[in-house]
Amino acid sequence: MSIYEIVGGNPIEGSLNIQGSKNSVLPILAASILSDEKSTIKNYPHILDVENMIDILTALGCKIKKDDESIEIDPSNIKEYEINSLLASKLRSSIFLLGPMLSKIKIAKIAYPGGCDIGLRPIDIHIQGLMDLNIDVVEESGSIICSSKNAKAGDVTLDISSVGATENIMMASVFLKGETVIRNAAKEPEIVDLQNFLNKMGAKISGAGSGIIRIEGVDKLKGVEYEPIPDRIVLGTYMIATAMTRGRLEVSNYCLEHVQSLVSKLRKSSCQVYVKNGKMQIRCIGRPKSIDKIETMFYPGFPTDLQAQILSLQCISKGYSVIVENIFESRYKYVSELSKMGANITVKDRVAFVKGVEKLHQANLSATDLRGGAALVLAALVAEGKTTIKNIFHIDRGYEDMAKTLSSLGINIYRIENE
Ligand code: EPU
Repeated sequence: MSIYEIVGGNPIEGSLNIQGSKNSVLPILAASILSDEKSTIKNYPHILDVENMIDILTALGCKIKKDDESIEIDPSNIKEYEINSLLASKLRSSIFLLGPMLSKIKIAKIAYPGGCDIGLRPIDIHIQGLMDLNIDVVEESGSIICSSKNAKAGDVTLDISSVGATENIMMASVFLKGETVIRNAAKEPEIVDLQNFLNKMGAKISGAGSGIIRIEGVDKLKGVEYEPIPDRIVLGTYMIATAMTRGRLEVSNYCLEHVQSLVSKLRKSSCQVYVKNGKMQIRCIGRPKSIDKIETMFYPGFPTDLQAQILSLQCISKGYSVIVENIFESRYKYVSELSKMGANITVKDRVAFVKGVEKLHQANLSATDLRGGAALVLAALVAEGKTTIKNIFHIDRGYEDMAKTLSSLGINIYRIENE
């Protein structure tokens, strides 16, 4: 079990190239099996979730070649229709394989994903959407078995704009004759990225990003080379780190539009964010001001995946802040860890009340989940003394070597292996 040791006090200073998006690359890897030809994904993020997805694809029969720059997936030999339950339990995104497998081999079996570290995360909307396409779904001792022998293009209206359900239904309908329409679809940039990837393969999909997606069935898809969008949550995390440490950061490989909801909050908190010579600049001088109210929303609202990090910023800002988590029912597990550092936070159901304090102090902490873990690292950057954080495998799921990145930006952080 590895740990981070972080000595707080240094500002973030330097430049950063943002990794490819985790939440784009996971469905894109799943979608790559829709062709019989090889696809290559460039600039993929070197994170644990990608390793776990590769393990699942390999177990299904894909041949994978990977180097630092790209992953090549050869799906021509997929025979297995069951996703190994141990592998599936490591990665909730294994559920994204249902859609592509139903399109490709007409049958799929997957263990029901259990509860998880940020709430229940059911899959009823995925299942209802598949059933609306006339896909047969049977539950059998903790597993779901789906068959698309009788599948037909159809009209699917989602009860919640679920990112994963939208992606699954897009992938389940690419080969269905006629037009499938997904209404109340998620509008996240990763949905647009999946549409772009599938269309490059030869699919006929339009409307991603608008809430209504139309999929015109095609006969087959070809293998392609593709580069996912930059990771807006990783970018947002390092922007917030810059605000907390009163630093200066220059960013390349970013999409400003994808982080606008954060930029407007950081400007209120007294940071400057602007673009110069094509690079994003973040400059933060003096103690940040608290933001009165932050509510997580579907895109383009403030993302739930930055809720923990912005709460961490509120802990040391001047004033009071109220944070409302509208997407997941239990995404405040990390709060008790921040309290060990002297943060003043009260949580009631989905609402967190934060009174900013001048200083946090060191503590021995444990990461509870991916984004909560990132929030603890951010707090440690400004805490007095040496903070340790264990269970950092949660952070490895979504961030490329955070210790290396932060060290390159002037932070005193060490990763200690096998403690
Ligand atoms: N929901 C249901 N039933 C379903 C599906 C979703 O009730 O069948 C609920 C969820 O419980 C949640 C809400 O709908 O309350 C939204 O969930 P959604 O399905 O949109 O989330 P997801 O597809 O499971 C993706 C990201 C998450 C991100 C959410 C929301 C990936 C791989 N994961 O999850 O990313 O928080 O969308 O934007 O794309 C992260 O990166 O840290 C992360 C958790």
